[in-house]
Order: sequence, then C-alpha cells, then structure tokens
Amino acid sequence: MYPPIDTAAVERAARILSEGGPVAIPTETVYGLAADADNRDAVLKTFAVKGRPTNHPLIVHIAGPEALSAWACVVPEEARLLAKAFWPGPLTMVLPKSERCGGFVTGGQASVALRCPSHPWIQALLKRFAGSTFKGLTAPSANTFGKISPTCAAHVAEDLGVKPEGSLDMILDGGRCEVGVESTIINLSGERPEILRHGAVTRAMLEAVLGRPVPDAGSDAPRASGRLKSHYAPGTPVTLFSAKDIAALAAGNDKVAVMATADVLDACKKAFGNRIVLELVMSREEADWQHSLYENLHRLDKSGAARLLIEQPPQTPEWAAVNDRLGRAAAAKDA
Ligand code: TXA
Ligand code: MG
Repeated sequence: MYPPIDTAAVERAARILSEGGPVAIPTETVYGLAADADNRDAVLKTFAVKGRPTNHPLIVHIAGPEALSAWACVVPEEARLLAKAFWPGPLTMVLPKSERCGGFVTGGQASVALRCPSHPWIQALLKRFAGSTFKGLTAPSANTFGKISPTCAAHVAEDLGVKPEGSLDMILDGGRCEVGVESTIINLSGERPEILRHGAVTRAMLEAVLGRPVPDAGSDAPRASGRLKSHYAPGTPVTLFSAKDIAALAAGNDKVAVMATADVLDACKKAFGNRIVLELVMSREEADWQHSLYENLHRLDKSGAARLLIEQPPQTPEWAAVNDRLGRAAAAKDA
C-alpha cells in the first residue's frame, strides 16, 4: 500500500520540473530521476547527476496511451494491445521516435522507450505536468550509474542526496516501490517483438497478449545500460551459490553476509559460525524476492562483510527478472 498522495508535494515537484530541475520520483518499479522530456538542458542534467554516458537512451514516462503518438511516429497495433493489457504498469515499449522526441533523450537512436507507470503519485504528477500537449518525463533509475537501483526515498537520499550536500532539488517520497525491479522492456521497432530487459511483465504474459513468440533480443539489440554485464551492482563482491557449495565457500576466515531460504541459511550458520555479519531469510515466492531484492542488496552491501553470498533462485522462466539482476550484480566489475 502506498501512502496517500501529498498533493502539495506533487505540485511542488511539477513546478520544479517545469522550471528545468531534476526531481526524484516514485514509480511502482524503482525510483526515477525525472526531467521534462522536451527540455534538453534539464535532461542532460540528469545524465550528469547519475554519471551516466549520454549515449545511453532514457525512458519517457507518459500519462497514458493517448500520448503514444506524440512521442512515437509509428504506433503498431501490437503496441496498442500491450498498452491496453499492461498500462499503467511495469512495461516499457520501444517504438520509432517522433520528430518531437530529441536525440538527447534517445542517445541519438531513432527509437524511443515509452512507459506509463502505475504508482498513484507519479500518475498524479504526470496528469498535472502533461497538460494538453502530452508532455512526458524522462526518468532513469535514481541511482549513480552502475549501482543498486533505489526502491525507497532513503536509498535516493543516501546515494544522490538533496541540495546543498547532494545534487537533487527534491525527492518526492511516495513510499516503497511495490514491484521492486525495473520495468520489462519490449522492442517493437524491429521486424518482430523482442525482450530487451526482463521485469514483472513476463515473457508468458507478453506472448499471451500478442499470440506469438517474444524471444530475447540478440546481441545486435539497441543499447540498454541494463544489458551491461556488470550492472545493478553492490560495491562488495557477490557470489551466487547453492547448498552443495557451502563447504567450499566457508574456507577462509573473512566476514560474510548471507541471503538465502531458511534451510540453506541454517546450513550456512553451521559452516560459517560467527563469521556471518548479516543474515537475510528469503521467501520462496518470486514476487517477494523481486519486491525486496534491491532493498536487501542495499542492506547486504552496508553490512561490512567482505563477501555477499546469495542463494541462486530456481532457474525457471518466472524467475527471469530476479535471476537477470542477480547475475549482473554478481558479474565481476571488469567483465
Ligand atoms: O522501471 C523502469 O523502467 C525505471 C523507472 C524509473 O521507470 N526506469 C529505468 O530507467 O529503469 P533506466 O534509464 O535505468 O533504464 C532504461 C533502460 C536502459 O537500459 C536503456 O538503455 C533502455 O531502457 N532504453 C531506453 N531507450 C531505449 C531505446 N530507444 N532502445 C533500446 N533501449 C532503450
Ligand atoms: Mg538503471
């Protein structure tokens, strides 16, 4: 449940955005760093705040499907079907961009990523901000490039911070994000639909609406920072493990932090003893994992452990989004 909408705070956020300032905003997936998508300087400021390369394209957040044709020059029937099924919600669609959409938004690409988020606070903000000209908000996740994405206002405050110490004019605090991992991205700008990033809208859900296969994008896919091998990463090294690995992992005498299901955690306690500085019990439910994944990564990373040990969830289709983010968190930084 989200807190009731603070209308005064939403008004203030809309005003700062209209004046060209970046504002951290809540969405149902993760917190975003919003800017007026028509304002080049405002958008470029968000790249600077994140330390993100400017050739990485951003998602434009819109109030509803009526804004699709303002930002995309072609809106195929499949985009309409998906918008009907999943908007507002955690699905982003990549379409050929319109004239209006600047290259500073798309990293110079001819396509644009569009999403209509469902969090009631950003819905209120977008309705207030969009006006009759279908204005949109660019919003990458509100974290330093490559770090763990924020799922509550405190994560944003710790990472990017508010002025004068930090770099933001405002963090709109709309509570904890319910989904917890970034939106699913589907590319509809090519010959066939393909998945660019896994999220809460699964392949099976997309295929059920489109009535045809939706494969993962190949390596020639458009640029997406979420596709970098090491991304969404804690500063502390992460190892994914299963029960059979525990004895080998316990060699040595360093401190570890462990996140695992109850039985596996018990086995770890026996093997590591008091070397475990933080233990987090994970449920076996995929939605719970997803919801608290980044929050738990933040906690593990702050625990002071030399290594983070995370039990590998089942390698089945429902777990695609979680396994994808964990794989990138565990990838060596120099990979
Ligand atoms: O859930 C989300 O999508 C969050 C919230 C704030 O809405 N936003 C988010 O933004 O994750 P960001 O910038 O961290 O990730 C957006 C992804 C990037 O991997 C980017 O490269 C990809 O979308 N993307 C954007 N435009 C694209 C395009 N035209 N073609 C292919 N990928 C694109
Ligand atoms: Mg991101």
